[in-house]
Amino acid sequence: MIYWLTYVVILCFCNDSPLLLYLRARLAMTSTPSFIIIAIDGGAASGKSSTSKILAERFNLLHVDTGSFYRHITHELLRRGVLPTNLAALTLALTELNFTTQLQGRSAQLMIGGQPADHEIRGQNVNEHVSHYAAIPAVRQKLLGYQRGQVAVAQQHGFRGLVMEGRDIGSVIFPAADYRFFLHADPIERAKRRAREGQLDSIAERDRLDSSRKASPLVSPTGAIAIDSTFLTLEQVVEKMAAMIEKKLS
Ligand code: DC
Repeated sequence: MIYWLTYVVILCFCNDSPLLLYLRARLAMTSTPSFIIIAIDGGAASGKSSTSKILAERFNLLHVDTGSFYRHITHELLRRGVLPTNLAALTLALTELNFTTQLQGRSAQLMIGGQPADHEIRGQNVNEHVSHYAAIPAVRQKLLGYQRGQVAVAQQHGFRGLVMEGRDIGSVIFPAADYRFFLHADPIERAKRRAREGQLDSIAERDRLDSSRKASPLVSPTGAIAIDSTFLTLEQVVEKMAAMIEKKLS
């Protein structure tokens, strides 16, 4: 009997015993939380970036600001002198743009031809043009697979999930995201936020263009959780979202 017991113990605890492997796998499944995707959409200066960054830090997520991708492409096309009205030249230029990703802290940076975006993507020139380029289906198509590919980037770098912000994340990019939020705020309050950041940005005009375009317009997707941040502090918005995420995670 004692021999049998010794044999079973050895079987269970020797390094590659099937039982131990099975137990290890079960433990890994219960202790490794599944990958989560959080989509945050909303108009210009609605607070998407600030909330996304805090949520990324809190839940160990990759932060993906898709507005910065559209801005970088716009800046590059303007630099090449390719106008949004010249579809043939634009389509050709898009085929020449090679996208890769570099991490800056927790944030995914789009590299075009190995080059990161510079501060000019937040300048007045890009502010004025970005909605016109973002309305072109070929531009959106070029970014579609790249944006979805950020899941693999997040997984490769050991993040627990990703939080992606933009205009069409909950409606087109990740319609089955675990959490879909839509942030809005009074336009006057949003204009004040931009002015406090020292930026010249006609947010009302950008919102008009982004909401009225045919390709993936800015919409609050059905089933998304809408949050009006007009009278809320950044902390209050974050706490609202985090409470919902934690409730579902626990
Ligand atoms: O988030 P932002 O203001 O930096 O975005 C700049 C522009 O990019 C915005 O006016 C519209 C476009 N955009 C888009 O069309 N789709 C996205 N998912 C993100 C941004």
